[in-house]
Amino acid sequence: MEPKSNIYPIFDDILQRADHEKLLKQRAKVLWMTGLSGSGKSTVAKQVEQVMYERGIYTKLLDGDNIRSGINADLGFSVADRKENIRRIAQIAKLFVDGGAVVIASFVSPTIEIRNQAREIIGPEDFLEVYINTPLEVCEARDVKGLYKKARAGVIPDFTGISSPFEAPESPAIEVLTDGRSIAESAADVLDYILPLVTIEEEK
Ligand code: ADX
Repeated sequence: MEPKSNIYPIFDDILQRADHEKLLKQRAKVLWMTGLSGSGKSTVAKQVEQVMYERGIYTKLLDGDNIRSGINADLGFSVADRKENIRRIAQIAKLFVDGGAVVIASFVSPTIEIRNQAREIIGPEDFLEVYINTPLEVCEARDVKGLYKKARAGVIPDFTGISSPFEAPESPAIEVLTDGRSIAESAADVLDYILPLVTIEEEK
């Protein structure tokens, strides 16, 4: 999208990200969880957020179903709408990063292109891709929301993994296998990686 003329964003005379990070005694990052519907993204995200909270880390959880019932309620699941969904979410994530938060974003974000868009908006040094790798058969067997059944019946079109593609990340920062493991174990994979990156040791 072209930037609008006659718009003058203020950047130099407002408090900076570094000021917020100093106040919060933490470093801001985005944990970007990608995976099939029912793979456990939200469950892992919630557990990661809970542990961070207990450690005094300020977080913001952004989750598919919540965002889609609010700011992105106008969007569906066509390729263009998913792209716009992720574009807005990435911009929101960036705002929170500028405010010093550790953002935990939990979205199917099914294609490499869509995630590259998010990476570009957020900035590659802050975008940490987390692949919640749960086989389709397992997600479908869980079918927590009953959506796979509807997708197979043709009631829901363009359903990720059934009638719409999911491209696994090629080199995620973290890959989490959830099948046969506890929520705590899966969350620990993420926490072991992220905690040293966001914690400022001597000041906490
Ligand atoms: S994304 O593809 O645009 O990143 P997002 O994470 O926001 O998707 O929303 C996915 C959630 O919407 C799923 O967990 C599921 O509950 C619901 N959903 C409804 N229809 C679809 C569909 N056609 N494909 C995938 N998820 C769907």
